[in-house]
Amino acid sequence: MSTIAPAADLAARFPVHGDVQRRSDAARAEVLGRLSFGVDFTDHMARAIYTVGQGWHDRELVPYGPLRLTPATSVLHYGQEIFEGLKAYRHADGSIWTFRPEQNAARFNRSARRLAMPELPEEDFLGSIVALVSADREWVPDTEGATLYIRPFAFASEEFLGVRSAHEITYLVIGSPVGPYFRKGFKPVAIWVSTDYHRAGPGGTGAAKTAGNYAASLLPQDEACAQGCEQVCFLDGATNTLLEELGGMNVFVVDAEGSVRTPWLSGTILEGVTRSSVIQLLRDEGRTVTETQVPLADLLDDIRSGRVAELFACGTAAVVTPIGRLAGRDFDLTIGAGEPGPVTSGLYHHLTDIQYGRAADPYGWLYRLV
Ligand code: COI
Repeated sequence: MSTIAPAADLAARFPVHGDVQRRSDAARAEVLGRLSFGVDFTDHMARAIYTVGQGWHDRELVPYGPLRLTPATSVLHYGQEIFEGLKAYRHADGSIWTFRPEQNAARFNRSARRLAMPELPEEDFLGSIVALVSADREWVPDTEGATLYIRPFAFASEEFLGVRSAHEITYLVIGSPVGPYFRKGFKPVAIWVSTDYHRAGPGGTGAAKTAGNYAASLLPQDEACAQGCEQVCFLDGATNTLLEELGGMNVFVVDAEGSVRTPWLSGTILEGVTRSSVIQLLRDEGRTVTETQVPLADLLDDIRSGRVAELFACGTAAVVTPIGRLAGRDFDLTIGAGEPGPVTSGLYHHLTDIQYGRAADPYGWLYRLV
């Protein structure tokens, strides 16, 4: 069970400053009526600054809008940046909840350490989210499958061109009302396995949620799109044989007899909050779940022979997404019959039922924001 401070004790850490131009009910309704992923933003953003010698200061909630950065701002040159992604869910009674935010706070600080950035106290991470969602509560959709996606991030805002960790960091949280990450919703997607490019290598930043990992994924992601696939899948940089993760989500394999495996936390993949929740839910329904090496060659053999029944991706944005096709330079395989498999489907419903308050939450994963 979570032992974090209740929202009511945290919101005041980020007081409102500035004159917020709230959009009209009609303008908001227009946006909420045509949701896709990551294109619309709410009226506020939370902000704090870290300065070496002073620590975190100037925590505030301000109007959402452009930043003033000079061309010499360090992040624009060296990419010292970290981010998180979590969601706010509206329950049937109108209350608004998020999912395991303390896990995101902890990962944010693991990413901060790897990127030589200051850690943010958990109360500030949570307090900034509580303040933002509370001020922009009307932006949390009430339609099936829709949420308010919350994006906390921090970057080197010092005006300086030397290569060292910045002396000034800006922390921001923005909110974006979203529908499903994949346009077609809960339908199988196609994955392209890249053998030419890697996302991360031993000792690199693969386990951190940092902009550079995603920048490195864009060219192979374009290659995946050119092959008619929605996402790229990376292999490990050391041997180019083991599945790691997709461009923006973790990957799972369901064997025909119902056991499940997923690439282990090798130090080069992201430790997903959805990944760990999925492992727990599957184990608690009695399945064997193994975090292990997943060699591509074995996986292809197992799909061809029918030993693998389902593949799925998962992440905060992707939730649980069935994979119906796995393609690469010399293979192109179909998994399932164009519909989500029963394990993937059951898991999707179990997880989202907890998140939207339709099922019991025996794990204490939900955290009330409003
Ligand atoms: C998330 O699932 O929250 C992610 O960060 C993936 C992607 C949108 C970058």
